[in-house]
Amino acid sequence: MTEHIKKKTILSGMQPTGSLHIGNLEGALKNWVDCQDDYWMYCCIVDWHSLTAEYTDTKGLKEKVFQMAVDFLAAGLDPEKCAIFVQSEVIEHAELHLIFSMLISVPTLTRMPTYQEKKDKLDSYGFLGYPVLQAADICLYNADFVPVGKDQEKHIWLAKDLAQRFNSTYKKVFQEPEALLREIPLILGADNRKMSKSYDNHIPIDFTEKQTEKRLKSFYTDPNKQRKGDPGNPDKCPIYLLHKIYSDNPEKEIAPPCRTGELGCVDCKLKLTERLNKSLAPIREKRQELLKDPNQVWDILATGRDRAKQRAGNVMDKVRSAMKLSYRKKK
Ligand code: TRP
Repeated sequence: MTEHIKKKTILSGMQPTGSLHIGNLEGALKNWVDCQDDYWMYCCIVDWHSLTAEYTDTKGLKEKVFQMAVDFLAAGLDPEKCAIFVQSEVIEHAELHLIFSMLISVPTLTRMPTYQEKKDKLDSYGFLGYPVLQAADICLYNADFVPVGKDQEKHIWLAKDLAQRFNSTYKKVFQEPEALLREIPLILGADNRKMSKSYDNHIPIDFTEKQTEKRLKSFYTDPNKQRKGDPGNPDKCPIYLLHKIYSDNPEKEIAPPCRTGELGCVDCKLKLTERLNKSLAPIREKRQELLKDPNQVWDILATGRDRAKQRAGNVMDKVRSAMKLSYRKKK
């Protein structure tokens, strides 16, 4: 990769939750894959961020990071085009986090919606600083854009604010990052809540075709449609949301016969199972291939780390020099 070619930079981050589910795939990963030809991409597996929720039990973290890297590659991220790396392997994230933490007030952080939502359960200093660490992730690469959903907009605003503060206090070092907001398709899980591994209502990419079928069979559907023949309302059905992604013509093929009762839920779910499995087949195949040679995956993470470190190192040199944090004798 030769970075002298003029392209804008994207930094994206994801907490290592292990293997990904179709919500992650459709909501984020496919979008990252689409970006990799047009931008310099840095894809960061943010293991330190995941400690804010769980810091005691860390023994599974390595496997989660590995599985996430496998899914990134299987979904089509190309290590030639984007640096895939683990946050804690680039120690500069911690250094910039510390410096940024001086430039922001505690009330600004306690007002963050993400903090307000969880502060009763998570009251650590680390969790309060979560968005500051995220700002460091972004600014460390002088990213122009950060692809995120609406829920993260405030965090990107904070990163931009910190970049501006630093630039006006010391010297212009940072690019002001912008959110690359995208429409995230609504994906609900088996229990009609947001699809999430923590609710165990999800469809992991690495499910077998049989497991996928079984999980889809257990999905919630319109409760007024008890049996075939009953009229249903596709707009109240999480299965229909998935048809909108995986079927070619759901408005014509699925919704009308659901409404009349002609199409029963069992058949409707079977149609979806077939299409979803077909769509995931190439990713699942690539996964199996990658799993045959785990060292290849670790090597890709090491190469990503080295590339990330180089760019982060350059930026941190500028940060230290702008702040006059330099204690070497004059040459
Ligand atoms: N906070 C993000 C999330 O919950 C994860 C994240 C950490 C991130 N650092 C980032 C996202 C930097 C984008 C850029 O999804």
